[in-house]
Amino acid sequence: MLLINTRKELKDHLSSLKKNDSLGLVPTMGALHIGHAALVERAVQENSVVVVSIFVNPTQFNNPEDLENYPQTLTADLDILEKIANHIIVFAPNIQEMYAENVTSTTYDFDGLDKVMEGAFREGHFDGVGTIVEALLTLVKPTRAYFGEKDYQQLQIIKKLTEIRHIPVEIVGCPIVREENGLAFSSRNERLTENMRKEASFIYRTLTTAKKKFGTESAVYVTEWVTKQFEEHPELELEYIAIAQADTLKPVVKKQKNKKYRAFIAVYTEGVRLIDNIALN
Ligand code: PAJ
Repeated sequence: MLLINTRKELKDHLSSLKKNDSLGLVPTMGALHIGHAALVERAVQENSVVVVSIFVNPTQFNNPEDLENYPQTLTADLDILEKIANHIIVFAPNIQEMYAENVTSTTYDFDGLDKVMEGAFREGHFDGVGTIVEALLTLVKPTRAYFGEKDYQQLQIIKKLTEIRHIPVEIVGCPIVREENGLAFSSRNERLTENMRKEASFIYRTLTTAKKKFGTESAVYVTEWVTKQFEEHPELELEYIAIAQADTLKPVVKKQKNKKYRAFIAVYTEGVRLIDNIALN
């Protein structure tokens, strides 16, 4: 394991790589769990060199409290990565290293992908994500970069980012890893009480039933049905449920056979915001 904190040191190290090395990048904000580990394991399988970045990116947090509460667990993170493979390069810069004096985001035109769901409820979030991911891709110049479908909207936006900025990289989307009861792994799950961590499996159970219903019912019907389920479980406060086209994230007007759809959900409980999504067809 090689722990690097500065851009210069990382650049120098990467410039010594051989021509036929393939380079995988896994961007994270640390507080690593099994979901992150799955991305790193895949990157290790598919590339000769792997960089995992650990950086809690301030510009993507619209809520200062969320940023303040974000767990920082570098020692435990390094342990997890060391167990996956001992040749991983960990890049853990500080804020100044990534932003110098100017801790602000670039404004992007993501073709509407950032205007819905997470983008509508978290102002400026995707400009912040775009800014840091563009900086990391430009610095590391990976062959492949790995992102989870847990943040499906983010994954689509990063594909768009590489297109509009002409960044030559393969963006690899990885399936959502779930706890045994179905709750999607998230660093935020740690902030739930033990009881709520069980209760919150309701989110995934509702999504799987919504998927079944979507086989025969309209998007409007399924959306209303999900809303009703959460009304009956007020301890899980529904922020949004959206059914959208999987590629454009545009809402479904009328279902079409040749299109792929996905349901997206955000829920608040115990002051924690949880998101999840599922392929519907
Ligand atoms: P973070 O929340 O740390 O997540 C890092 C990566 O792990 C993301 O691509 C996310 O989708 C993936 N991931 C998280 N939980 C997962 C799960 N249960 N199953 C599969 N993949 C999962 O996402 C970010 O950080 C940041 O926005 C970042 C891209 C690093 C930019 O700052």
